[in-house]
Amino acid sequence: MRSHRIAVIPGDGIGTEVCAAARAVLDAIGRKHAIAFTYDEFDWSCARYLAEGSMMPDDGLDLVRHHDAIFLGAVGAPAVPDHVSLWGLLIPIRRGFQQFVNLRPIRVFDGVPGPLRTSGAVDLVVVRENVEGEYSEVGGRLYRGTAADMAVQEAVFTRAGVTRIVDYALELAERRGGRLTSATKSNGIIHTMPFWDEIVAERSATHPGVITRAEHIDALCAKLVLGPEGFDVIVASNLFGDILSDLAAAVAGSIGLAPAANIDPTRTYPSMFEPVHGSAPDIVGRGIANPVGAIWTASMMLDHLGHPEAAADVLTAITQVFATTSLRTPDLGGTATTADLTHAIIEAL
Ligand code: NAI
Ligand code: MG
Repeated sequence: MRSHRIAVIPGDGIGTEVCAAARAVLDAIGRKHAIAFTYDEFDWSCARYLAEGSMMPDDGLDLVRHHDAIFLGAVGAPAVPDHVSLWGLLIPIRRGFQQFVNLRPIRVFDGVPGPLRTSGAVDLVVVRENVEGEYSEVGGRLYRGTAADMAVQEAVFTRAGVTRIVDYALELAERRGGRLTSATKSNGIIHTMPFWDEIVAERSATHPGVITRAEHIDALCAKLVLGPEGFDVIVASNLFGDILSDLAAAVAGSIGLAPAANIDPTRTYPSMFEPVHGSAPDIVGRGIANPVGAIWTASMMLDHLGHPEAAADVLTAITQVFATTSLRTPDLGGTATTADLTHAIIEAL
């Protein structure tokens, strides 16, 4: 029996609902594969911010530093500005724990209707740079409240930061279909993006088994909609990767299906696993959130913790439920509840 200690941050809104679903699946897979999970739950959230003035305690990172992994539902609430929840919790964890890879796989499951008819199987991964780039604190505001009001925000691209994310993506492409697409915008963004392109070209030369091509972000968005089956691994900066993965998830049928992992590949710190979607205040409390994004996220956590068979089992169960039942949550056009779908996936396991 192997055991893992998981720090669970359910967060706000449907974050708490999908976290419960993912935990139920983890417990079921644990029984099947002799893996024991212990969970320490933390109430870090916008609710905590409204009650106590901060998203998490000052020593928050120290409280989860020694866990094997962090599982997060979603944070965000209408009464709290979104930059508070992002910069008060998610970004400090991603940066403090050097989770420089944000891994976002996307698939079109048999039986799940998407907005598009795709001619083939969609199975791609967005590798998003997660700790620098456009998400930067460098900059400022001047002349607030006057007619000259202005804002400046600097993007930060470092050789070390770009190199390690591109290397991660190249190695992943080597293990998958051998094709890498790099998202760029070197025609418009004339300093950082040519720098990004140069490093992609340099690193690609050291991986002759991978065919790399660069695409401008605007054209890439259009191609992802028109022909998502043509992509394997996509590497992108922090902002481009964020946008591309939501877009690709919508193409696959619903953002409620999309998983994500914030990974420190050096394993110095715990990695953090969270579905791509947010707290969805418009559907909270109705028991209809799609749990698949969170459950697939749990599968990514199993893989990271050294249980690839258990991880594959969870994904097979999801695939099977979609292929053999008509259970769909409302985001996929059905009337099933979070609990219905979770039960069916556990049954399939
Ligand atoms: P959202 O992902 O919460 O919702 C967008 C739309 O997708 C809504 O119509 C929602 O009902 C639907 N949706 C999302 N997840 C779903 C699921 N599992 N099942 C069924 N439908 C689902 O994004 P939105 O509305 O932009 O943001 C809401 C709040 O969440 C904001 O406060 C935002 O800052 C926060 N947020 C947090 C994230 C995180 O914790 N990592 C990521 C994105 C947003
Ligand atoms: Mg996003």
